[in-house]
Formats: sequence, C-alpha cells, structure tokens
Amino acid sequence: MSTMKGVVLAGGTGSRLFPLTRVTNKHLLPIYNQPMVFYPIQTLANAGILDILLVTGGHSAGDFLRLLGNGNDFHLRHLCYAYQEGEGGIADALRLAEHFADGHPICVVLGDNIIETNIIAGCDEFRRHGAGAHIFLKEVPHPERFGVPVFDGERIVRIEEKPKQPKSNYAVTGYYIYDTTVFEKIRTLKPSGRGELEITDLNNQYIQEKSLRYSVIDGWWTDAGTFESLLLANNLVAKGGANKVEAAVGETRSQQAGGKR
Ligand code: G1P
Repeated sequence: MSTMKGVVLAGGTGSRLFPLTRVTNKHLLPIYNQPMVFYPIQTLANAGILDILLVTGGHSAGDFLRLLGNGNDFHLRHLCYAYQEGEGGIADALRLAEHFADGHPICVVLGDNIIETNIIAGCDEFRRHGAGAHIFLKEVPHPERFGVPVFDGERIVRIEEKPKQPKSNYAVTGYYIYDTTVFEKIRTLKPSGRGELEITDLNNQYIQEKSLRYSVIDGWWTDAGTFESLLLANNLVAKGGANKVEAAVGETRSQQAGGKR
C-alpha cells in the first residue's frame, strides 16, 4: 500500500490558555526544553512518517517556518505548511490536507498531544489492513474533557465528545489514522453545537461503516491545552522524557469496532 503521510494540526486560538496565547500560538509554548509542536512531529517521525504537513493559522504562522524550516531537526523528507482561515475546528483544518495527502493514508496528530512512548504498533496495524481508520485510546481520570468511546464488550459502538456522564474511562487521544475516504466524509459533516466540524463526528462515520479499529497506548499520554494539562505535560517530560521508541509496546489491543477483526 502507499506510504502513510503525517498531518500535525497546530491551529486554534488556544483560548483556554489566555493570556499565555494572546501573542503566540499554543503550539509554540514550551514543554520543558522544547516547543510543544516538536513533540507531535517527533511522534510521527518515530513511526517512520517523514512526509508531514503542518496546519496552522492566526498571527503566528510565520513563526512555525522560522522554528521548523524544512524539518531538518527531525530528519523529515519533507515538511509542508497549510494555513487555516478562521476557527472551523479540527475536522475543518484537516480538509486542508486533501491536496497534500494525494491518495495516501494519513496519520493525524493534534499538536498539543504528548506521549511517553510511541504509536508504532497502531501504525503497523493500520498498514496491515490498509483501509478504514485507527484511533488510540488511553484510560484517564477525567474522561469528560475528551472524546469518550462507548463500548459494547470490546467493540466501540460510538464516540461521545466531552460527555457530561462518560460511559467509559477512556479518552480518544489526538492520534488518528485515516484512509483516503476521509475527505469525502469530512464534506458531509455539519458544524456541532460549538460551531465546529468535530473529529468525533468523523470517527463516528467510520464506526458506522464498521471500519474503525483502535489500540490502547502504553505509558503516559496527555494533551497540553489547559493550565493543568500544560503543567502536567511539563512535569512528565522533565521527569522522564517523551517519544520513547525503544519502550515495550506492551499489550496493544486492537479491535474492529462493529464486528470481526
Ligand atoms: C480534541 C478532540 C477530543 C480529543 C482531544 C484529545 O479536544 O475533540 O475528542 O479527546 O482533542 O486531545 P480539544 O482538546 O480540541 O477540546
């Protein structure tokens, strides 16, 4: 199958981090000794994904070019940039990747997600099937902040976005792998209550098609979009480092939601 490409979503207003994000983009803020956006790029590079599109917007877009250049720090094959006008949400930002994807599957990473280990096993699993979608789950103390899977046994029957009463203790993390049908699916999405095209609605379409698989990631995982999670991310990285490739992948469950493997 064709090579997987990577997309890092690094737009948004970062309003939950005001005033830290009044004059800069959230993904340029420090996480211990590196700018936040370094971590998701390294996550992709560690999974062998070296052709990457960075989507950003707002007033700091030029700073990403100055910071990342052609991606030589990460030994990327190619680093492309796209500019998101307005605040249409994660799935809206992803629309901008259609030309870049050019018929290849894509691994999408939210630019504020940081992982202790890696997503290699999930990428390999997707490559084995070559179609559908693959998401990465992590058990968390406060699932109501995230997309939360609803299970029937080991099968995900749907994902609820920031439910007041979560039906499981898992968060859908900000790593997603999609086949080439993702862009047709995005075109059918309608804005949610908060006026955004939601990645959760996109994932639910794959669930309805019975083509969404998942794995549970090993080691710690966090986003960094609130003061609490930003502090947590800094502390976790300072203590032990992130993006470990050599770490044992452990028990990675992988199941096709909606039916057989
Ligand atoms: C987004 C997604 C959510 C996911 C989270 C992971 O939420 O909408 O489903 O669990 O990222 O970081 P946001 O952080 O944009 O509120």
